[in-house]
Amino acid sequence: MAILVTGGAGFIGSHTCVELLNANYEVVVLDNLHNASEKSLERVKELTGKEVKFYKGDILDRDILNKVFAENKIDSCIHFAGLKAVGESVQKPWEYYENNISGTLTLVDVMRKNNCKNIIFSSSATVYGNPAQIPITEQCPKGQCTNPYGWTKSMLEQILSDIQKADQEWNVVLLRYFNPIGAHPSGRMGENPNGIPNNLMPYITQVAIGKLPELGVFGDDYDTPDGTGVRDYIHVVDLAVGHVAALKKIEEKAGLKIYNLGTGVGYSVLDIVKNFEEANGIKIPYQIKPRRAGDIATCYSDATLAKEELGWEAKYGIKEMCADSWRWQKNNPNGYDD
Ligand code: NAD
Ligand code: UFG
Repeated sequence: MAILVTGGAGFIGSHTCVELLNANYEVVVLDNLHNASEKSLERVKELTGKEVKFYKGDILDRDILNKVFAENKIDSCIHFAGLKAVGESVQKPWEYYENNISGTLTLVDVMRKNNCKNIIFSSSATVYGNPAQIPITEQCPKGQCTNPYGWTKSMLEQILSDIQKADQEWNVVLLRYFNPIGAHPSGRMGENPNGIPNNLMPYITQVAIGKLPELGVFGDDYDTPDGTGVRDYIHVVDLAVGHVAALKKIEEKAGLKIYNLGTGVGYSVLDIVKNFEEANGIKIPYQIKPRRAGDIATCYSDATLAKEELGWEAKYGIKEMCADSWRWQKNNPNGYDD
């Protein structure tokens, strides 16, 4: 039995492939390489000594999906494939709804026609909007998203929940990630953003390596201890291990489950700068800039439910996240193009 990993060549997907192979799962990846390099899968093999079966293709393409299911005995799908750039989604809403929503509907339709009704979906803390309570539990109501990307996650949660409700043969695990950073501790795999990064940690590592002159800190007048935004940063390897834990729920035929995957600890932008500097001995010049549209002050998880029900909790601390992010950037200044 194999696990289909859509978007498996991407940042979180490639790290999850490593953990799945280490846990002795057979892995089949479908990725259109829109935001990834096939080289990440070569690194997966290098790190595990095991092969991933790779299909270059799109989740909107029924023919390739049918081929994947015809050629493999797929037991469950871990569904990472999607577009994820918040700002771009505001400019290109149609593309985001088409890719993320139509893509998932197509995937799920082919899955059910092949009698595969187990899916783990990459959701996001963004579905909480401006959260009603901190720390955020899974009981916290979903909120108003501030961009089309966020709405695709919120809508897909609803769609997958409704599908499970109508047909209880489905097992659906919605994983709400907080802020994934870090990289494989080997320095061989990591995040490979195109162009100028939108997210904090890749921006910091590109300042550290001299590609960008300084970090802009988006606002220092939030209602937080130092005025800068507070987030729950989680090491990508911890996140990857969380997916292996979630597969156990699928195997127990648990129906619909929703888990926060975070550390439960919030760090401000300036905390991250300080920890990065201390972990790596590099100064990060920064300048305070205006607030970024759509940002909230504080977002961190209560991750108790994942601990209780999945036996999973994050193990890596912020210094390791900073050290691993930097090791990847330093060893691979141009990502997988080196
Ligand atoms: P990523 O861009 O590195 O990975 C997504 C992968 O999906 C890429 O390899 C891309 O080529 C592929 N893809 C996109 N559209 C596709 C399509 N139509 N068909 C086939 N492949 C397609 O992003 P990531 O950071 O690894 O994120 C993985 C998932 O987790 C995404 O769904 C993302 O929205 C979600 N997520 C990410 C974050 C984050 O901060 N990184 C936070 C919360 C949720
Ligand atoms: N920030 C800066 N300067 C930068 C980049 C970010 O000050 O150059 C600040 C932001 O204002 C925010 C914090 O750093 O306070 C984190 O910002 P990120 O862009 O790294 O992450 P977000 O919390 O905005 O969003 C990320 C993903 C979303 C996802 C969310 C929750 O981009 O897709 O985490 O999982 F929904």
